[in-house]
Amino acid sequence: MWVSLLVGSFLVFCTSRTQAVCGTTPPVWRNNNITCPERAVCADVFKTSRDWYNGTRCEEQRTLHNCLCPGGTVCPYTNSAHRVYASAQHLQYICRPVCQVPYCGNLQLRTTDRRNPLNVAQTVEQNAPEFGSRSYYRIDCRCPRHHVPYVQPPGVHRAVHVHSHIYDYQHHKYTTRFVCTTRANENSMPDPCAANHNIDEQ
Ligand SMILES: *[C@@H]1O[C@H](CO)[C@@H](O)[C@H](O)[C@H]1NC(C)=O
Ligand SMILES: *[C@@H]1O[C@H](CO)[C@@H](O)[C@H](O)[C@H]1NC(C)=O
Repeated sequence: MWVSLLVGSFLVFCTSRTQAVCGTTPPVWRNNNITCPERAVCADVFKTSRDWYNGTRCEEQRTLHNCLCPGGTVCPYTNSAHRVYASAQHLQYICRPVCQVPYCGNLQLRTTDRRNPLNVAQTVEQNAPEFGSRSYYRIDCRCPRHHVPYVQPPGVHRAVHVHSHIYDYQHHKYTTRFVCTTRANENSMPDPCAANHNIDEQ
């Protein structure tokens, strides 16, 4: 299941990337437009800079819609109030404003259970009953880098990294949990959604 999700996403991404296109490409509608579970990532936007190796580059933007928001409305994939940065090049959108999601740094330790680590920031649910036995990403709490992506080259700097995998034998559900990626001083970054702090827009 995990492999098929990865391969599936990879194929979607790669087949679409084989076409040489600049600008914004038509959105891809996935999962038959079923309704998003709570805090599911309803759309992924990938921004790339294509190098033609002839002295020119061009910017490209691809959008994958994973599900529709409650009421059948299209994911607010152009509204920055609904956006987190998975990385500087990968934007994720949720149906509700992101400031309604808790800030990971404000959460208390829930339990000392290894399977319930402190402040799970993001979860991938596979074979999820609440999503027609399909797979989806969920934002559980906001990380500092969800607001302000780390942009120093080289490499892709993601806001979260894998913490653990859990298989629920009873429900045949596979869960991958992610926690915030943090470097020096980021843990003490105040909640950008809190009063007197403006959300950094870029
Ligand atoms: C999904 O919804 C969008 C927006 O309403 C629509 O343009 C698209 O055709 C739908 N796709 C499918 C497969 O139903
Ligand atoms: C570079 O190559 C692309 C793709 O073939 C082409 O669209 C573009 O015009 C080229 N630019 C220059 C400066 O030759």
